[in-house]
Amino acid sequence: MIRIATVAELDPRDVTVFYRVDYNVPMEDGQVSDATRIEETISTLQYLRERDCRVVIGAHMGRPKGERNEKYSLRPVCEHLSKLLNTAVYWAEDCIGEDVIAWVKELPPTGVMMLENLRFHAGEEKNDPEFAKELRKLGDFYVNDAFGASHRAHASIVGVAELFERDQRAGGFLMMRELEFLQKVTNVSERPFVALLGGAKIAGKIEPLEALVKLADSVLVGGGMANTFLAAQGNSLGASLVDSDSLAVAERILSATERATVHLPSDLVVGDDVKNPSKVRTVDVGDEIAGDEMAADIGPKTLESYSAIVSEAKTIFWNGPMGVFETEQFSAGTRGIAKAVSHAAQAISIVGGGESVEAVKASGFSDRISHISTGGGASLEFISGAKLPGIEVLRKSSDGAGD
Ligand code: 3PG
Ligand code: MG
Repeated sequence: MIRIATVAELDPRDVTVFYRVDYNVPMEDGQVSDATRIEETISTLQYLRERDCRVVIGAHMGRPKGERNEKYSLRPVCEHLSKLLNTAVYWAEDCIGEDVIAWVKELPPTGVMMLENLRFHAGEEKNDPEFAKELRKLGDFYVNDAFGASHRAHASIVGVAELFERDQRAGGFLMMRELEFLQKVTNVSERPFVALLGGAKIAGKIEPLEALVKLADSVLVGGGMANTFLAAQGNSLGASLVDSDSLAVAERILSATERATVHLPSDLVVGDDVKNPSKVRTVDVGDEIAGDEMAADIGPKTLESYSAIVSEAKTIFWNGPMGVFETEQFSAGTRGIAKAVSHAAQAISIVGGGESVEAVKASGFSDRISHISTGGGASLEFISGAKLPGIEVLRKSSDGAGD
């Protein structure tokens, strides 16, 4: 059992808190399109403000590779948060430097300030000690609710946390909720345990998948990830997204005789374009796919067989959509799975990752899910048994940390 120091034990009063969150939210036309990750931090923010704390919020958006890039500015998020909190949230044009320090000093009790994207500085992703030292100047206490980024050993997640004394750093309420629910899956006793994996970010996921195969009874693969497996089996997939660097791992997973049965789609929806397709058709796996066609959803036969497996499950973990669900023609698979997961009434169901969460919410059944995780890659890694650097740094020594 992992136990972390919590903000409630820290009991901060009238101090300045450096609060790391994961506000890497989906955006559309410069507006926040799904605010789940922001909403889930409100309880910690309220708690800190009720105690007259000043809160300095650090977050990232996208992958700007260490350079300022307006496309990844957190300013729209700051405005959204201000509406949710129904109070002014001060905006800082940068996340370190003399000006920022001066602005923090001016914050009144209960004042909230949002810093510009931490990843505009290369030191963030490099966990650079100098950058961490600069961040350390912005608070008396450190509280981390960035569960979704806790698998990254970045400066605001690890480096700066280590610069606070043990009794000055803790996880927030979001972090506590995530750990409580996700540990129900890692200590899974309710079987069958069915894991559904999809999404386009393949590289970082295929290895935790290897671990998941040892834990689950069935692993149902869809989306871009399925393409990679199908390609590893020798199917030609036209112009589909295939992660060619992961083919060897995919082959290894398919040939392993671990606990879980790995299921791959038996049919696919293919199109000539993922955004504005003019030709869309359903093919069986093994059928010819033209050079300009790409697989963009699981087909109806696959949806039916996956849904049947899901309906028998007692524990369900879902990470990543089954296709390009933002495009109507390719949304049936993800929507169907959202329905199946939410109707598995006897199961503990956990859905993680921005897009799967969006799909479940759009299905209108999100209240039937036991836990909606704010972490995509992070929840997958956690469930696969990996140690997440952002959680390790908050662990209590008494829980056997370091075992
Ligand atoms: C996420 O959205 O998964 C987290 O914010 C982490 O983002 P990253 O994959 O760019 O590190
Ligand atoms: Mg993401």
